[in-house]
Amino acid sequence: MAAAAAVKVQEVREVTRIERIGAHSHIRGLGLDDGLEPRHVSQGMVGQLTARRAAGVVLEMIKEGKIAGRAILLAGQPGTGKTAIAMAMAQALGIDTPFTSMAGSEIYSLEMSKTEALTQAIRKSIGVRIKEETEIIEGEVVEIQVDRPATGVGAKVGKLTLKTTEMETIYDLGNKMIESLMKEKVQAGDVVTIDKATGKISRLGRSFTRARDYDATGPQTRFVQCPEGELQKRKEVVHTVTLHEIDVINSRTHGFLALFSGDTGEIKAEVREQINAKVAEWREEGKAEIVPGVLFIDEVHMLDIECFSFLNRALENEMAPVVIMATNRGITRIRGTNYKSPHGIPIDLLDRMVIVSTSPYQEKDLKEILKIRCEEEDCEMSDDALTVLTRIALETSLRYAIQLITTASLVCRKRKGNEVNIEDVKRVYSLFLDESRSTQFLKEYQDEFMFNEMEEELMEGAA
Ligand SMILES: Nc1ncnc2c1ncn2[C@@H]1O[C@H](COP(=O)(O)OP(=O)(O)OP(=O)(O)O)[C@@H](O)[C@H]1O
Ligand SMILES: [Mg+2]
Repeated sequence: MAAAAAVKVQEVREVTRIERIGAHSHIRGLGLDDGLEPRHVSQGMVGQLTARRAAGVVLEMIKEGKIAGRAILLAGQPGTGKTAIAMAMAQALGIDTPFTSMAGSEIYSLEMSKTEALTQAIRKSIGVRIKEETEIIEGEVVEIQVDRPATGVGAKVGKLTLKTTEMETIYDLGNKMIESLMKEKVQAGDVVTIDKATGKISRLGRSFTRARDYDATGPQTRFVQCPEGELQKRKEVVHTVTLHEIDVINSRTHGFLALFSGDTGEIKAEVREQINAKVAEWREEGKAEIVPGVLFIDEVHMLDIECFSFLNRALENEMAPVVIMATNRGITRIRGTNYKSPHGIPIDLLDRMVIVSTSPYQEKDLKEILKIRCEEEDCEMSDDALTVLTRIALETSLRYAIQLITTASLVCRKRKGNEVNIEDVKRVYSLFLDESRSTQFLKEYQDEFMFNEMEEELMEGAA
C-alpha cells in the first residue's frame, strides 16, 4: 500500500514542464548582425531581407527612446511573415521596453468604447522608469545577541553588531528584526543589507575572511568581500511600470486588483490628466523617465474610420508610442464608410506612416522555413519529403505546408517509422485539403450544399 502511494507521488511529479509550440515559437529575434544587416538564416528568421533590415532600423529608433508617435505599416500578402517580424521585434526589445500586441478586431469585443480600448492599448505601450533612492545598511555581521525574557513570553530584544572594513556599529534589534534575522538564518560572518525604510534583510553571502569556518559553509555558499566605507549607504533602485498600470492603480473604482483580472473598465479622463501631470512633475525632478514602447496592431484593416481618425490625433500626442501595424489587404473599403482606400486605411493616416512591404517567398526560403519548423516540432523528415513539402508550399501556401508537418509526423508515428517520408506527406496531402482544392470541390458539387448563392446569381444572370 505504502509502496503504491510512493509510486503515485512520483508520477505526479513527472509532469512539470509543458511546452507549447505556437505559430511563431521558432522566432527568436530579427537575426541581424551588428551593422543591422540581416543574416540569411538566423534566430529562426529566413529571407525577407528588406523588411527585416527596415525592422532593424525601426528597432534602433525605438531603443534610442527619443522618437515617439511614429507609425510603421507592414503590408504584404498573407503568410509573408508580417506577424513573425513584429514578434521578432518584440523579442529583440527585451522586457524593459513595453510591447503591446493586439488585433484590430479586438476593440469590438471589449466592454468599453473603441477609443477607450485604443487609449488603454496606447498607455500600455508607454513605460515610466521610476528611480527611487533608498537608504540601506550594509555590513558584515560580527555578532548577534538576543536576550530572551526570563519568563519565556513577551518580546525579545537584542543587539546586532555590523562592521565594514573601516567601522563597526552596534544596532538595537526589535522583535520583528530578530524574527527576520532568524528566518534568513543570519549568523556571524554573513554579509547582509538592511533596507532602512522597510526593515527587509537580505543575505548577500559569507565574508571571505570566514572562508575557513568549514562548519558554516554549505555547498552553495557564496563568498563576498566585506563592504568598504560607511555602513549606511544610499542605493538607487529603478523599476519600470506602464502608464496604464498607474492609471488602474489610481482609479478609485477599480484598484490594483483589476490588473490581475484584466477587468479594468473605462478610466476617467480626469484620472489620466492627473497622472500625466504627476509624471511630468517627476520627469522635471529627475525622478522618472518616459520609455516609449511599441503598440502592434495586427489586421489593422479591421479598425473603422472612427478609430483611424482617433489614431491620427493620438500619434501627435507627446506621450505616444511607436505604432506598428500590419495588413494583408489591397485597395478596399474603409470600415464604416463607403470609400475605398489602399489597405483599407484612410489616406491621411497612410500619409503619417512609413510603409514596409513584405514579398512572397522563393522556393529556397520556403524550404529553410519548413526545415526550421520541422526542428521546432521535433519532426525528423527525409530530404525528398521536405522537397515535396516545399513544392506544396509553393503551389498552395506556406501555412498549409506548415500544418502538414504536424499531421505527417503523426501519420509517421502511427506506422512506427522514425522519419517522415514522401508517402506520409502524400497521405496527409490527400487527407487534408488546402484552400484552392476545397474551393474546387465546392464549385463541382455546389448543388448539393445548402444556401449556395452561385445558382441564384446564375439565375439572375439568365433572367
Ligand atoms: N521569414 C520568416 N522566417 C521564419 N518563419 C517565417 C517567416 N515568415 C513567415 N514565417 C512563418 O510562417 C507562418 C506565416 O507567417 P505570418 O503569420 O507571419 O504571416 P503574415 O504575413 O502575418 O500573414 P497574414 O497576413 O495572413 O496575417 C508563421 O508561422 C511564421 O512564423
Ligand atoms: Mg499575420
